[in-house]
Amino acid sequence: MCLSRKSLYTMEVFLLILILGLASSRIDCQNIIGHGGSFNVLDYGAIGDGRTNDTQAFLNAWRDACWSGVESPVVIIPQNFIFLVYPLTFWGPCNSNKIYFMISGEIIAPSSLGTWKGRDASEWVVFRDVKGLTIDGSGTIDGQGKAWWDHSCAHQSYLKGCTRLAPTALKFVSCNETSVSNMYVNNSPQTHILVLGCHGFNLHNIFINSPVDSPNTDGIHIQSSHRFSVTHSIISTGDDCVSIGDYTSDVEINNIVCGPGHGISIGSLGKSGNIVQVESIHVSNVYFSGTTNGARIKTWQVGRGTVRDVIFENLLFNSVQNPIIIDQHYCNVQGACKDITGSGVKISNIVYRNIFGTSSTDVAINLNCSKYVPCTNIVMQFVQLSSATPWKIVSADCENAYGQEYGVGPSSCLLQS
Ligand SMILES: *[C@@H]1O[C@H](CO)[C@@H](O)[C@H](O)[C@H]1NC(C)=O
Ligand SMILES: *[C@@H]1O[C@H](CO)[C@@H](O)[C@H](O)[C@H]1NC(C)=O
Ligand SMILES: *[C@@H]1O[C@H](CO)[C@@H](O)[C@H](O)[C@H]1NC(C)=O
Repeated sequence: MCLSRKSLYTMEVFLLILILGLASSRIDCQNIIGHGGSFNVLDYGAIGDGRTNDTQAFLNAWRDACWSGVESPVVIIPQNFIFLVYPLTFWGPCNSNKIYFMISGEIIAPSSLGTWKGRDASEWVVFRDVKGLTIDGSGTIDGQGKAWWDHSCAHQSYLKGCTRLAPTALKFVSCNETSVSNMYVNNSPQTHILVLGCHGFNLHNIFINSPVDSPNTDGIHIQSSHRFSVTHSIISTGDDCVSIGDYTSDVEINNIVCGPGHGISIGSLGKSGNIVQVESIHVSNVYFSGTTNGARIKTWQVGRGTVRDVIFENLLFNSVQNPIIIDQHYCNVQGACKDITGSGVKISNIVYRNIFGTSSTDVAINLNCSKYVPCTNIVMQFVQLSSATPWKIVSADCENAYGQEYGVGPSSCLLQS
């Protein structure tokens, strides 16, 4: 009890810092706009009434900013306007190594699926090959995902013409040295923020929100990227708060409130039998509330390669279904994957430290590792989990998991190496 009260207090302070962080961001914007040239979408004919197609104005403002000779051009999306934009890509490389995108107003997606006819249904707003991009401004991006969720095969596979692929709200491809801060990203048809092939990418003070029953709406998904961080953010969605895909390293996830959602996941990895390379992942100071998973690692049996040097620390769980879970037998449809002998992604050097809170199921710790490629060097220190239902007992289940523990309850089932 004492612990949870203290933790709650910590959360309040943390939320306060988040709010203060947002309030101070306006001042920063003013400073930035003072330097370099500014390119306001209104000057390019955007109307911002929430109904007019403002796509071309956005593209033209971007083109001029990107091609301008000024040192740090700023694209301005002013506040008190709602801009309707259709699928669009902001292309780099730009002339400047530093380009600002100040979103203070709201950007909304078209709400009808028909808009994507003949287009790539996986994207809406895309930044590609841009270096040194800073997105800031306390604005909102709304993917208007409802029509997509209603047509998703994930919820109703019997529906004729149901959709499997839906747009990502914000997608970054090959964008080195990017920073995105002080933004609201809501109701994406699928993943909210997707980072692909980016070196040096920081997300800070991001609020992501979509309904708990919206399918495949990951908060943030990172793939093939290095030096990534997400800090001081609140994520509530219908899928993972943050998920880390194949070929990713040097990831820092810090000061996050996650829930509802599926937790923070490394994986699923190795789906197509590829060689996974995921390492140096640090997840700390996360509060999970009512999520299906907490700290999760999931790999497909067909995968190969490694996941190593992962630290999960200072986590607090409030009624989470699988607080700590490693699943090396991951399969998206239960029972649909054949048991594969001989392969598997090697999982090693995983630390779980200072982890407290409650589980809503009987199994609080589940380390389900492969017979062929066992998990090794798992370290658990000061992990204390109890049932969300008073007086109920929770357990730890392990298979082929080797390592050491200290101060763990429910007493874990690690095998001595
Ligand atoms: C909106 O404008 C863009 C850019 O001019 C254009 O490509 C697109 O077809 C327009 N969409 C609609 C539905 O008018
Ligand atoms: C991004 O950085 C990586 C690693 O430093 C480099 O190999 C790659 O060429 C860079 N890409 C761009 C588009 O600048
Ligand atoms: C591990 O996963 C396999 C396949 O999904 C399942 O049959 C088994 O019961 C699981 N073991 C534990 C300890 O959860």
